[in-house]
Amino acid sequence: MGVLTGKVALVTGASRGIGKAVAMAHAREGAKVVICARRQAELKRAAREIQAAGGEASWIAADIARSNDVKRLVREAERRYGTIHILVNNASILGPREPIARYPLAAWEQVLKVNLTAQFLVTKEVLRLMIARREGSIINVSSGVGRIGKARWGAYAASKFGIEGLTQLLAEEVKEFNIRVNAVNPGATRTEMRAEAYPEEDPLTLPTPNEITAVFVYLASPESIGVTGKSFDARDWLNKSN
Ligand SMILES: NC(=O)c1ccc[n+]([C@@H]2O[C@H](COP(=O)([O-])OP(=O)(O)OC[C@H]3O[C@@H](n4cnc5c(N)ncnc54)[C@H](OP(=O)(O)O)[C@@H]3O)[C@@H](O)[C@H]2O)c1
Repeated sequence: MGVLTGKVALVTGASRGIGKAVAMAHAREGAKVVICARRQAELKRAAREIQAAGGEASWIAADIARSNDVKRLVREAERRYGTIHILVNNASILGPREPIARYPLAAWEQVLKVNLTAQFLVTKEVLRLMIARREGSIINVSSGVGRIGKARWGAYAASKFGIEGLTQLLAEEVKEFNIRVNAVNPGATRTEMRAEAYPEEDPLTLPTPNEITAVFVYLASPESIGVTGKSFDARDWLNKSN
């Protein structure tokens, strides 16, 4: 029996990187996981990997920036598994590394749409199920630049500041329904997004996504009941066994 046995987890942006590792860790602890991303082939491969490791996983291709996709995603997860106990709002895009003075409006709007508005859309749909059952854990993936602003992080940083704020206000709103809402900053991690942001960096100097999942499992598990509205750093939990 794992600490998440009997639970259903939805992880967005889980076809690769941190989302995939978090989904894998949840499945290892006994959760049934539903993973989503836009591109089907990579997503399907991720689901097969989780299944090959003995986990229960289902994939649903969806663009979380589209409200119809989000409705379909949550309805389909509910149809397959009955409900959702754990939501990991992980999917995001980097956008251009440009100063604000040169930042293109279209990119600004797209980054905020995927990294903030889409998290609102997914959360709103999933809350319908969590409020009805009066239980749930929502884990919002943030970033160091969502806590301290840094030059040339533009809409990405603004969206992550938004995620931190959304975490705090939602935690207050849903406390009465036994739903906890927390944010996790993964810290620099060996993924495609990190390589795009720091092309000159040696990825081998960074922890892999599989090494940073312990805090996610803690926040999803009953061990964290009562913990809400807080911001965590996955690096503080590095290599802790789940
Ligand atoms: N890696 C780091 O060092 C680091 C540091 C701090 C914070 N983070 C945060 O950690 C999270 C995961 O990052 P990562 O490095 O693992 O990124 P990644 O390797 O680029 O993976 C991003 C995932 O999100 C999916 N995605 C992107 N847009 C989507 C959309 N509109 N709808 C559905 N899925 C979408 C991607 O698949 P598709 O492209 O097929 O949709 C992919 O599965 C992000 O929130 C990121 O901001 C990462």
